[in-house]
This record gives sequence, C-alpha cells and structure tokens, in this order.
Amino acid sequence: MTASPDEDTQFLTDFQNLLAARRNEVSFLDRDVSAEKIEDMLADANMAPSVGLSQPWRFVEVRSQERRKAVYQNFLHARQIEIETIEADKRAHYAKLGLTGLDSAPVHVAFFLDNSEQRGHGLGVSQNPLALNYSVALAAYTFWLTTYAHGLASGWVSILEPEAVTQALDVPSDWELVAYMCVGYSATALDGPDLEKRKWSRRQTLDPYFLKK
Ligand SMILES: Cc1cc2nc3c(=O)[nH]c(=O)nc-3n(C[C@H](O)[C@H](O)[C@H](O)COP(=O)(O)O)c2cc1C
Repeated sequence: MTASPDEDTQFLTDFQNLLAARRNEVSFLDRDVSAEKIEDMLADANMAPSVGLSQPWRFVEVRSQERRKAVYQNFLHARQIEIETIEADKRAHYAKLGLTGLDSAPVHVAFFLDNSEQRGHGLGVSQNPLALNYSVALAAYTFWLTTYAHGLASGWVSILEPEAVTQALDVPSDWELVAYMCVGYSATALDGPDLEKRKWSRRQTLDPYFLKK
C-alpha cells in the first residue's frame, strides 16, 4: 500500500467489503486448511492492539480429532444448560439453530488470556482488569477478519464451559478462555447473519446505538 488510506478509496472499499463479507460460519466443507495458512493468520492476529502492549494472548491450534470431539461434546452439554436460560417460548426455536461449526470445521483455534504475562507491566490494567480480556478478544476478531481476507471462513463459539476446554486442550489451568473459533472453507456462502436468516434476531442500523452529547 503506497497511498495513505484517506487518499486511497480502493483501500476503503476493500476494507468495507471485508467487514461486510465476514460472517459467523457454522458449516464447513470437508477440506483441510494448511498449517502455514493458520500460522499466517495468527501472525495477523498477533498484530492486534493490546493494553500496555502486553500481548497477553495464547493461541492454540487444535487439529487432534480427539480434542476437537471433546470440545464438540462440551458444546452439546453447554447448549443443553443454556436452553434452560432462554425464554420458554423461544426454546424450540433455539433448539433448531446451528450455533456451531465445531463438528465440521477441520481446524479449531482457541484464544486464551494468560494473566501471568508481565510484558505490559500492568499499564492500563489497575482500574480496568478486563482490558486484558478485551485485548485477547481483539486478537480473535483480527483473526476472524483475516480468515475472510484469506478466502476462508470462521465462526466464534461461546457456548462452551471454559474449564472443560482448558482440560480438553491440556493447557495451563490458569489460562482463561476468551474465544474459541472454528476455521475452514465455507459450505454455506451466507450473505447475511445466519441468526437473521433463521429469524432469531435482526441487525439494526446505527441509529439506536449512537448517542451524541
Ligand atoms: C463474543 C461472541 C460470541 C459468539 N458466540 C457464538 C456461538 O456460540 N454460536 C454461534 O453460532 N455464534 C456465536 N457468535 C456469532 C454471532 O451470533 C454473530 O456474530 C451474529 O449473529 C452476527 O452474524 P455475523 O457474524 O455473521 O455478522 C458469537 C459472536 C461473538 C462476538
């Protein structure tokens, strides 16, 4: 990129197209993603901003059939628990939603927070300890976007018990799970949010969320 973004409308168009193309994918083709591609995309995620430049994230690429199966089993369990928390008249609808690509995705990537990371020297954390979690979430979102820039697809799964994932992946028990992503090639070509298509919710315009004071 030679021109600065404000001179380069193509840059802005490409960026906005990327934002619009990103979906929460819940169904993947039976096609592998190379280890090199995953590493390239994690290098992009590693460029995310972090409080105090702490980079408190730990990325775990999960390819083992056994571990992916254990995580999927936990999703099924967590979904059973979650359905009890949903308004009674919405439960049947909830039960029909896909809510995960864990079973079809060839690769999973877990994003953990390692609270023992000292590189930020506590800057920005004393009054806002969650700034560390937000930093890891930003890395996950950067990864989410770059999967689409790479012609792949991904989806975030939060219907999981964090400790069960920590155990299934055999990582240090004090790492906090922030995001769990499924990665692969899209089997759906979604042109809008899956939850919109399934009439669970609708994306609103900016207006109700934007206050001026
Ligand atoms: C923090 C977070 C957790 C999410 N967890 C799930 C999940 O467990 N299952 C799921 O199907 N989608 C999950 N999503 C995806 C949202 O449902 C999705 O982003 C939203 O419906 C809009 O669709 P889009 O991402 O395709 O634009 C999650 C998204 C975020 C940001």
